[in-house]
Order: sequence, then structure tokens, then C-alpha cells
Amino acid sequence: MDNNLDWGNLGFAYRKTNERYVSNYKNGTWDEGCMTTDDMVTISECAGVLQYCQACFEGLKAYRTEDGRIVTFRPDLNAQRMEDSAKRLEMPLFPKDRFVEAITKVVQANKEFVPPYGSGGTLYLRPYMFGSSPVIGVKPADEYQFRVFSTPVGPYFSGGAKPITICVSDYDRAAPHGTGNIKAGLNYAMSLHAIVTAHNNGYDENMYLDAATRTKVEETGGANFLFVTKDNKVITPKSDSILPSITRRSLMYVAKEYLGLEVEEREVYFEEVKDFVECGLCGTAAVISPVGKIVDHGKEIIMANGNTQMGPVIQKLYDTLTGIQMGRIEAPEGWIKVIE
Ligand code: PLP
Ligand code: COI
Repeated sequence: MDNNLDWGNLGFAYRKTNERYVSNYKNGTWDEGCMTTDDMVTISECAGVLQYCQACFEGLKAYRTEDGRIVTFRPDLNAQRMEDSAKRLEMPLFPKDRFVEAITKVVQANKEFVPPYGSGGTLYLRPYMFGSSPVIGVKPADEYQFRVFSTPVGPYFSGGAKPITICVSDYDRAAPHGTGNIKAGLNYAMSLHAIVTAHNNGYDENMYLDAATRTKVEETGGANFLFVTKDNKVITPKSDSILPSITRRSLMYVAKEYLGLEVEEREVYFEEVKDFVECGLCGTAAVISPVGKIVDHGKEIIMANGNTQMGPVIQKLYDTLTGIQMGRIEAPEGWIKVIE
């Protein structure tokens, strides 16, 4: 490996790598797809994605394991979620087996960008799809492009494992029956003002509440919540307007099956949050990042067991999940796809 990259200090940023995958959809079918060194996209000035934001994406990682292999984590679930997103946005479905194959090809072509074991870095993979043909009346495009690129990354939050401080947002992320449960670019476009506002006010992230009643915890701009009760129960909010995080689903399984903890997915009222002792944000980028403090318009909630460092339950969840991903702990059947 001689990319001159400082593997231990990558941050979460885009770096151009060698090759990416492209496939185009035209006349009702996907072409066979190919790898390319061209990182530029050329589309109509009137493309569906540019006018009406017809785009969805995914995020997953390739990991270097303790014994030097390269693996990905549950890519079949990303393929499925991309289908769910595409259906909701009236886009064609990219076949799930081809999705996984595209991921494999991109990792293989960019092996030297998979950070070494122990560096804290991973190769982040970004599959995405967008309407590429001209659309001026409000309707779906006729043509689409599916791409996957990769970029080496470090932790999403710059402090790494240091607990972050978040605030309750005055903005809503997703409406009931809206698009909060799919990975549409538009969900992120509308969160930009909210995140810039949070950062300007000194917070690392937003906690969004449910738009209808503003009494229930939803998620942040890029991760689901996990809470731990005084008696070590792991609780995660249930809602139809949050993204069904693959990391969260995996962590709930790990909590129950590996750590023997009680787990519960249910509606979580903001009123209850003060009674929890640990809080974490979980997602591909966030892994599980501890939250030390939640501020609701000046009222502070401090997590009793995790405000100066990661709390004990979240630490165990983190160690077990990353142990599975890095090959130190045996994975449940089907979770790890070995690339090489
Ligand atoms: N919630 C949102 C809004 C996200 O963007 C993400 C990131 O993908 C997640 C949750 C976590 O999902 P996953 O664990 O599948 O990466
Ligand atoms: C991911 O975790 O993969 C995401 O897509 C979150 C994003 C906000 C970086």
C-alpha cells in the first residue's frame, strides 16, 4: 500500500479512487455495466435528478480483517433497501445479484484503498441511482444511471469514540407517509439547513422528533438511535418514517444473541429520554457513536453512563459488531461476504 494516505486520520471525506462501476437503463432494460476510470458524469441539463431530485443511494463498507482478507457486511440488505427506495421513487429496480456483483468489482478494483487492519479506516462504498434523461413535466425519467464508487474513510464524527452533543431540531426530517423510510437524496437535501444550524449553535447533530406530534424520537440526519435503560435493556425507536438501518438491525441481534441483553423496538417518547443511561447513534458511517448530551432548547439531558466516554453497554455492542466485521468474532450465517 503506497497511496501516501494517513490511514489513521482519514476523516469522513471523499477521495477519488481508481475505478467505479456504471450501468445505464434505457428502453426498459439495464445494459451489462462496466468499470471505468472516469469519475465524471455527463447528463442532460434537464435530467430528472437535476430538476425533481429523482435519486436514491446506499452506503456500506469494505473492511480489512485481522487475517488480511477484505470483506463486506450484509451487502444483500443494501441491495434490498435500494430496491425499496427505487420503488417509492418510481425508478427501475437494479437487480440485487448485480448490485452485490458491482460492489465486489469496485472493491477488487480499489484494493489498495482498503485501509489496513487496525487503522480505524474502511473503504466506504456508495451505490446510487438517478434519473438521467430530460424531464420537464413532473413525471419519472425514462433513463437512469446506476453507479458505485468507493472512498477510504475514517470515523464519521471527528472525535472518534468521544461522546457527542446533539440538539432537538426545530425542523422535521420526514412526514408520516413520506419518504423518511427510504434512502432518497431529497431527505438529505432538506436536512442541510438543519445540520448547518445545529453546527452553528455548537451541536454535532440533530435529534429529529416525529413530525405529527413532536413527542416521539425519530432519528438523526444520518443514523438511528439506540438507548440503554438503567437495567441494561437496549431500546430503539420504531417508526415508519425512519430509515431501517442495517447497523441498527444488526446491533439489536448482537445485543440479544451475543450479549444476552433484553432488546425492544418500540415507540420512544422524548419524555422518557431523561431516564436512559446510554445513547448511541448507529449507522454504516457512524458505526455506533456515543451521545453524551442531548439539549432540548436549553434543557440538558446528560447520559449518566456515557457522557465522558463510551458507556459500557454501547462499548460492548461496538466491540462485538466491529469484531464481527473485522473477523475477530464469528459472524452469524450470511453476514460477511468475503471479497478476497
Ligand atoms: N438513518 C439515516 C437517515 C441514514 O442516512 C443512515 C445511513 O445509512 C442510517 C440511518 C443508518 O443506516 P445503515 O445502518 O443501514 O447504514
Ligand atoms: C451511511 O451511514 O452510510 C450514510 O449514508 C449516512 C450518511 C449521512 C453519511
